[in-house]
Amino acid sequence: MLNFDFYNPTRIVFGEGQIAKLRDLVPQQARVLVLYGGGSIRANGVYDQVKAALAQHTVFEFGGIEPNPTYETLMKAIALVKAERIDFLLAVGGGSVIDGTKFVAAGATMDDDPWTIFEKRAANVQAALPFGAVLTLPATGSEMNSGGVITRKATHEKFAFGTPLVFPKFSVLDPTTTYTLPPRQVGNGIVDAFVHTMEQYLTYPVNAKVQDRFAEGLLLTLIEEGPRALAEPHDYDVRANLMWTATLALNGLIGAGVPQDWATHMVGHELTALYGLDHAQTLAVVLPAMLRVRREAKRAKLLQYAERVWHITEGSENDRIEQAIARTEAFFRDVGVGTRLPDYQLGREVIEPVLNALEAHRMVKLGEKRDVNLEISRKVLELCL
Ligand code: NZQ
Ligand code: ZN
Repeated sequence: MLNFDFYNPTRIVFGEGQIAKLRDLVPQQARVLVLYGGGSIRANGVYDQVKAALAQHTVFEFGGIEPNPTYETLMKAIALVKAERIDFLLAVGGGSVIDGTKFVAAGATMDDDPWTIFEKRAANVQAALPFGAVLTLPATGSEMNSGGVITRKATHEKFAFGTPLVFPKFSVLDPTTTYTLPPRQVGNGIVDAFVHTMEQYLTYPVNAKVQDRFAEGLLLTLIEEGPRALAEPHDYDVRANLMWTATLALNGLIGAGVPQDWATHMVGHELTALYGLDHAQTLAVVLPAMLRVRREAKRAKLLQYAERVWHITEGSENDRIEQAIARTEAFFRDVGVGTRLPDYQLGREVIEPVLNALEAHRMVKLGEKRDVNLEISRKVLELCL
């Protein structure tokens, strides 16, 4: 096992009816800004529950944070925070709203342009406003981690940042808030959580037994519960299991003491920035190709994955690996997420622009062994067609 330093201060308040606890979770004297997205929370009653819980608080609102939240929009929220002397933020929505809130939390305390967070790898973030979250879309793990991903519309750039200063103080996870998710977002969430697990599991063995078995448990749960969430959208237990799985997939636990990959995510971010694919759509396209191209370096873990997750024990090693990758792809398609570029009306024309973007963003040594250079990324993109 590798050395590690695991820290996670986020309090999780889980279950039906827990939004009412905001009354006590949010500091009484705070000037609170509630941040949300395009309106799903107004349509499904979550907004009303939040407002009722905060009836005794001083509350301001900022709506309109888009999927793949943009710098341009978030700068407006930062201006509001400064103008109204806001001292507590509450994100209500999916990963985009929570990520956007993290950027606002850090950006509002800075004299520099907050975009410099990305140039300086967050080293210039000295403080952040405290914030909590009400999660409505299980997928990213943002509700219990210290990372965020922000897009700059003007330049088609999508970058990740992370600092322990932006762990949420708390996150409320009420599975009933997810009943109204459209099937596309349910599928996206399943794929995102699956690929987060794979980025931390499917590398090379370091004899980290509990991390491996936790990861396999998360993957098996997604395979079991994912299709059920689509078939029976109002099954509480299914939604509860999915919600907690997605959180555990990226809260640091399974990644502690093991090598991590993240090449699929980095290539995926460029596809979203350039062509507007949903985050999980990019992952469903890139992951199978990434595994195929890098099968030699990942051989031992691919065989373990085939056996323990897909129960594949017959055939040569190469057969078992190919079967496991094919099963992964089929699973993504089963939950409604296309796994090839043509599923999104894209083809060979994306290869050069994506490679150019990876080069411009210095994404030229990716993966757990830093050996995913542009040549490997090209091979991966060729296999996405
Ligand atoms: O904007 P509203 O109206 O709220 O609608 C949203 C949005 O259109 C809708 N939605 C959310 N909850 C709903 C709902 N609709 C009905 N009922 C509900 N209960 O779903 C749409 C997508 O929401 P979004 O927040 O964009 O999705 P997701 O949670 O998948 O977040 C994606 C973003 O997270 C980043 C991605 O890059 C992307 O920008 N990621 C963040 C990570 C992190 N912080 O650790 C890691 C991930 O790898 C990922 O990169
Ligand atoms: Zn992701």
